Amino acid sequence: MEKYVINGGVKLRGEVVISGAKNAAVAILPATILANGPCIIENIPNISDVSVIIKILSEMGADIRVINKNTLEIDTTHITLPEVPYEKARQMRASSYFLGALLGRFRESKVALPGGCDFGVRPIDQHIKCFKALGAECDLQFGMIQLKAKELNGTHLYFDVVTVGGTINAMLASVLANGQTIIENAAKEPHIVDLANFLNSMGADIMGAGTDVIKIRGVKTLHGTSYSIIPDQIEAGTYMVAAAASQGDVLIKNIIPKHLESITSKLEKIGVTVIEYDDSIRVIGNRPLLKANIKTMPHPGFPTDMQPQISVLLCLCEGTSIVTEGIWDNRFKYVDELRRLGADISVDGRVAIIEGIKKFTSAPVKATDLRAGAALVIAALAAEGETVIEDIYHIERGYEDIVLKLRRLGADIKKIVTPDSVLEQVL
Ligand code: EPZ
Repeated sequence: MEKYVINGGVKLRGEVVISGAKNAAVAILPATILANGPCIIENIPNISDVSVIIKILSEMGADIRVINKNTLEIDTTHITLPEVPYEKARQMRASSYFLGALLGRFRESKVALPGGCDFGVRPIDQHIKCFKALGAECDLQFGMIQLKAKELNGTHLYFDVVTVGGTINAMLASVLANGQTIIENAAKEPHIVDLANFLNSMGADIMGAGTDVIKIRGVKTLHGTSYSIIPDQIEAGTYMVAAAASQGDVLIKNIIPKHLESITSKLEKIGVTVIEYDDSIRVIGNRPLLKANIKTMPHPGFPTDMQPQISVLLCLCEGTSIVTEGIWDNRFKYVDELRRLGADISVDGRVAIIEGIKKFTSAPVKATDLRAGAALVIAALAAEGETVIEDIYHIERGYEDIVLKLRRLGADIKKIVTPDSVLEQVL
């Protein structure tokens, strides 16, 4: 068992360097399947979700050479079976990207229904709608989705909801299709643009990524490339909120300030000082902080993946704040854990009402998903006393070296690993 032990009350100070974006990496790595030659990918975050993708590629027969901790050379030329091993696929949401990438290259794919963080129902009907529109037949049997197409032909597609995963799969499945595909009501997140830039660097013809309408002209082949993944907007936002909650003064480096605008503007509204530079941002936590209302929206709105973290900060603001979750049905599960630390939050469906408190107090808590776990870490850093956080594997799915990075900022955080054999003797 692994847990974090955090002694709160330290004001975070110093510099932190942001890693590559998880949600770009988990799309770009499967996209290497479409390349006719090796790809060198830099700035890959060293996190467990990425390790799962790399293991899947390796088990499928890709040649993977480690150049350094964050750079890999991936050659998928020798993959012959368009099928993803069942157990690994169901561990994460992004395994669905193998459906699009394998379909694009082999005109068929077989992947288990994806897993991932549990925020209620997570359908993939829009992905399937897109594959079918391109000409694939879709079958679901024994927990596996199977796609088969005689040929893939460009199509005009309108997504019923703005979907990040659906937009990514649509790009993966159509870059090698015949003719032009138009995706309307496309997602506009920075990782959508990053995937399009990666595919274009392999010879794809994608225009409009980052707007509502993406146009993809199919090409015959894609070649290998060298590419560096963008910095992680959500990791950066998490450290911004941690700096603010701990009343610290932190320079967050290797970021794209434009990607953080919705977070920056909310922090400023609350009373936090944010100073932007070309590729870094300084956050100074002040008191008192003022209440704010936040609704999560698709990009460029306030990101749902920052909702638990900003809610922790709103707990420390004076007055009553209202947080409305605009993307997921059930993303307030962590509130029960936050209440153990003294939060005063009531939840009604997709709305949370947060009453400001003076400070958090410590207690043993459990991470319920990735960003919920990050939120608990922030609360623990700002709390009085020692907080123990269990189920930290959720956090390590998406934050590279979080303990090391926080320790360098002065935080009193330790990771305790108890070998299973010791636990068995005790239990
Ligand atoms: C991506 O999930 C991210 N995951 C999530 O981040 C993030 O919360 C989410 O986008 C929204 O920004 C990855 O990139 C790996 P969606 P995804 O398809 O693609 C509905 C994190 O913390 N929908 O944009 O699964 C769906 O129910 C993770 O890093 C359909 O109805 O999200 C939701 O309400 C957690 N039908 C909305 O659309 C579909 O076919 C947005 O989902 C697909 C989605």
